Amino acid sequence: MPLIEARGLTKKFRQAVKEPGLVGSLKHFFTRQYKDKLAVDHIDLSVEAGESVAYLGPNGAGKSTTIKMLTGILVPTSGSLVVDGLVPYERRQQNARKIGVVFGQRTQLWWDIPVVESFNLARDMYEIPPRRYKENLGQFTEMLGLAEFMNIPAGKISLGQRMRADLCMALLHDPKLLYLDEPTIGLDIAVKDRIRKFIRSRVEERGTTVMLTTHDLGDIEDICKRIVIIDNGKIIHDGDLAKLKDTYARDRVIHFQLARPPESIEPICAELPACELATDGLRLSVRFDRFVFAAGEIAAAVMSHVEVVDFRIDEPEVEALIRKVYLGQLSLDSPSQPAPAVVEA
Ligand SMILES: Nc1ncnc2c1ncn2[C@@H]1O[C@H](COP(=O)(O)OP(=O)(O)O)[C@@H](O)[C@H]1O
Ligand SMILES: [Mg+2]
Repeated sequence: MPLIEARGLTKKFRQAVKEPGLVGSLKHFFTRQYKDKLAVDHIDLSVEAGESVAYLGPNGAGKSTTIKMLTGILVPTSGSLVVDGLVPYERRQQNARKIGVVFGQRTQLWWDIPVVESFNLARDMYEIPPRRYKENLGQFTEMLGLAEFMNIPAGKISLGQRMRADLCMALLHDPKLLYLDEPTIGLDIAVKDRIRKFIRSRVEERGTTVMLTTHDLGDIEDICKRIVIIDNGKIIHDGDLAKLKDTYARDRVIHFQLARPPESIEPICAELPACELATDGLRLSVRFDRFVFAAGEIAAAVMSHVEVVDFRIDEPEVEALIRKVYLGQLSLDSPSQPAPAVVEA
């Protein structure tokens, strides 16, 4: 039995339809009009214990709505959802004991009291055994560098400090499941790095199951093995990062090191239509669609015209790929031709 099991999970919101301006507001006041928005549209999702899943998609895709249903904050409109044997919204309290949640946009810390007092409240709320609490707090304080602001009210610390404190707070009770909604948004590299290392240590050492939404490729590569992409409320991709690259990252680049500068690259271009060639002294690079050409064909074409001393194939550009996901530019057509066999260099 998976830890998270969603079947046909759906959330519909009623959104007010209002024309712009004062006239629109007045009209809306007298004749209210609404339309239904399917924020999450019949999704099926199974997550096994110990998995770390990146839940990606453009703004408004339905990521936060899904997380809110998983945490029990929102009640689904239809479909079924079971998290570790419970229906989250029916058993909010029990569910809360098993999960840790960090929303990048909102803190769980009490604003006016020193950070450490928020932790102590969490200890009492979750009835964390004193020894466990002391151990966890000690370890997290060290790993996340919390000591310097432990006694300052949450309202007076920086965003990076707040996020680290929030993460600590979410994990003090050793939850099985950690939901992170944009946890590194607006943070600088050093803080991001610290947060990622910390989360990874939880996954590796405690087997914590993580579900993460983020716009940051670094988060994904450091923490997640599996990528689920949601767009317009529907899941459009579910697989590991490698599979994502295989399916969507069609472009490959081969860099050749030449024995001497080429006189002309025209003959090579002629043999490789629709490829992008670039030269710089002894270097020649060819960008090609790997569903059209095999790497071996590119290499053969180049070598028939110039003397090659070495070459290397670039990894697909995941960054560009994820950017496409967020810009909604990802083409969902599966490649019409099967991927050619990879030629070993
Ligand atoms: N409380 C709400 N009432 C009405 N519409 C909502 C509400 N929450 C979210 N939505 C709508 O549902 C869609 C998905 O939102 P959300 O889950 O926040 O997206 P994401 O987190 O992927 O950016 C959006 O179109 C958003 O406007
Ligand atoms: Mg969101």
